[in-house]
Amino acid sequence: MEHTRRIYSEYNAWLQPKFYLASKALRIRADFDLDFIHQECHLGLIRLWGEIQDSAAYTLQLKMDDLEPEAFSLTPLINGFEIAGGSKTGLLYGVYRFLNRLAAGENIEKIQERSAPQVDYRIINHWDNMDGHIERGYAGHSFFFHNHKFDYDEERIITYARMMASIGINGICINNVNVNKVSAGLIAEPHLSDLAELAALFRPFGIRLLVSVHFDAPMIVGGLTTSDPLDAGVKEFWQAQSTVVYTKIPDFLGYLVKADSEFRGGPEAFGRTQADGANTIAAAVAPFGGLVFWRCFVYNCQQDWRDQQTDRPMAAYKHFQPLDGTFDENVILQIKNGPVDFQTREPVSPLFSSLKNTREAIEFQIAQEYTGQQIDLFSLAVQWEEILTTEIDKGKQLKSLFGQEIVAVTAVTNTGNNMNWTGNTLAQCNLYAFGRIAWNPDLTAKELIREWIQITFETNELGCLTMEEMLLTSRGIYESYTAPLGIGFMVNPNSHYGPNVDGYEFSHWGTYHRASFDAIGVDRTSKGTGFTLQYPESLQRKYDDITSCPEELLLFFHRVRYDYKMKDGRTLLQYMYDSHFEGAQQAEALLQAWETLENRVPQETFNSVKERLKRQLRNAREWRDQVNTYFYRKTGINDDKGRQIYM
Ligand code: GCU
Repeated sequence: MEHTRRIYSEYNAWLQPKFYLASKALRIRADFDLDFIHQECHLGLIRLWGEIQDSAAYTLQLKMDDLEPEAFSLTPLINGFEIAGGSKTGLLYGVYRFLNRLAAGENIEKIQERSAPQVDYRIINHWDNMDGHIERGYAGHSFFFHNHKFDYDEERIITYARMMASIGINGICINNVNVNKVSAGLIAEPHLSDLAELAALFRPFGIRLLVSVHFDAPMIVGGLTTSDPLDAGVKEFWQAQSTVVYTKIPDFLGYLVKADSEFRGGPEAFGRTQADGANTIAAAVAPFGGLVFWRCFVYNCQQDWRDQQTDRPMAAYKHFQPLDGTFDENVILQIKNGPVDFQTREPVSPLFSSLKNTREAIEFQIAQEYTGQQIDLFSLAVQWEEILTTEIDKGKQLKSLFGQEIVAVTAVTNTGNNMNWTGNTLAQCNLYAFGRIAWNPDLTAKELIREWIQITFETNELGCLTMEEMLLTSRGIYESYTAPLGIGFMVNPNSHYGPNVDGYEFSHWGTYHRASFDAIGVDRTSKGTGFTLQYPESLQRKYDDITSCPEELLLFFHRVRYDYKMKDGRTLLQYMYDSHFEGAQQAEALLQAWETLENRVPQETFNSVKERLKRQLRNAREWRDQVNTYFYRKTGINDDKGRQIYM
C-alpha cells in the first residue's frame, strides 16, 4: 500500500506535484479561524514551490466577504494577494482556483477573478458496484468498494475529494444506478455506518454524498410485500429508513433513482406514475433538506425490431412531459443530454425545452462508453460545448437554462483505482473539464483543454499546442471513423467498443439504423415517427426539412438515400467512404503527434498514452474497413477515389 500511495501521489494529475516553481517568501493570514482551508492553501503552495519562507512583507490574505455563498474572488494587492469567499466553501474554491492558476504558470500579480457557479448542484455519479467492479469503468476497479463492502485508502479518497472540490464538485453519488440486492442495503446497517465515515472524509471539501437507491428497497431492505409508492407501508418504510440515514449523516444530499428502466423496478410496475414514485421518496427526505434525483432514462428495452412505430428517442418525453409540474420541489429530474444514450452525436433531449415547471439535472457521461472507452482519444469538452450552445427554442441556447430549470449538472465519472485515475492520462482532461463547465457553461473547450494541459504537464509551448490540437480534433476524428451523421451505435453489443454494423440491428434495445440497398436511417420527422414534434415549432421545422437539418445530424432525423447530395455535392455514400478513410488516417496522425512529445511529458505517461493511441489506430482501421465493406456490399458502388474496400 505504501508503494502504491507514493506512486499515485506523484503521478501527474492536477493539484498533485508536477514541478516546483521558485519558492516564495510569504505569510498566509486568515481573518478568522480557518484551519482546514489555511492548511489546504499552505499544502498547495508547498506542492508548487517546494517550500515557503515566512515573510511579513508579502501576505496572502484569506477572508470571508459579502459574496454569494459559493462564490470567490481572487485579487492581487500591492504587497500580497487576497482570496475571498462568500462562505467557507466559497473560500476553499477560491484557494483551489488560485493554486490551479499558479500551477498553470500564471504570474501571481496577474491573477484576478470573481466567480460564482451558475447551478447549485455539480455532481459526479460513480457507477461502482460493491463487488469492486465498475459498470462502464475503463480505469480499473472501484476505489470505494471491494468484495461487497467499503474498502478504501483514506489518502486516496482525500486526494480525490481535493481534486473534485478544486473543480467545484459538491456532490458525489458513490454507487451504480443499477442497484443490486447488496447495494440496496447502503441505506441500512451495517453499510450505513461505513457510509457515514466516508461522508466525513468528503465533508471538509464541501462535498456531500448521495447514493443510488433501489426502487424496490421496501421489499429488499424492508421485507415488505410491495413497493407500490402509494401504499402506506411503503411510504412509512421510506420515511423511517431516511430518518435513520439522516440521523447518521445530517448533510446527506439524497438519493439517485433509476426506475422502470432496463429491468429495474419502478412505479409503472404498480400502475403508478413516475411522479407518484418520485414524490413518495422525496417526501421522506424533504424534512431533512434531502433531494431525489429521478432519472428519465425510461424506454422500452424489449422492443421487437419489426416494430417500426416505437421510436426509442421519443420515450423519455412521453413518460415525463405530461407530468410537468406534478413533481415535488425536492425532486430533480435527471435527463441524459441526448434522447438516446450518450452517443457520439445526438440532438439535445427535447425534455429540456418542454419541461417548464420541473427542476432538472442534465446528465453527461465522462466515462467514454460509446466514445472510445478511454482508449481512443475523445475530448468531451468539445462535445459538451456544442451541446450547451445548441439552440433549444427561439435562439435560446441550452446553457441559458442553467440556474433556471436546470439546477444540477451531473456526470457518470471516468475514474477508477488506476494510478492516474482515468486509465488514459489524457482522459483526465474530460474529468477536469466537466467540473469547470458544470460551474461555468460559458467556458469553451479550447480554454478548458488548455487549462488542463498547463496545470498537468510541465512542457513548452510547442508541447502544449501539440496536445491541445490533438484533444481539440479528437472528437471529430473519432466520429468520422465510427458512425457519423448521428446514425450512432454500430458497435459491438455489450462491450460497446469496436465496430459491428448490424450488432444491434435485430436486437430488443430499440437502436436501429435500418440500412437497405438504397437508403439508411429512421425518418423521425413529423411525417415519420413524429419525434421532431417533441421540439418547439421552430426547431421542429428546422429538423423536419432535410435542407435545414444540421448536416451532422442528418441520419439521426432522416432516412436518406445513398445517392443524396450532401451540402458539398458529394453523395451520402461517398461522404461515408471519405469519412472513414480520412478518420483512420487522422487516427494515425494523432499517434505521430504524440510521438513528438517524448521527453516532454513523463515517460510513463508517454508510454501508456502511446500504447492506447496504437490501439486506437487498430480500432479506427477496423471501423473503416467494416463500415466501408458493409456499404459497398449493400450498394455495389465503388469509392470514387479508388481506395481499398474489401469485398
Ligand atoms: C447505458 C449503459 C448501461 C447503463 C445505462 C444507464 O445503457 O450501457 O450500462 O446502466 O446506460 O444509464 O442507466
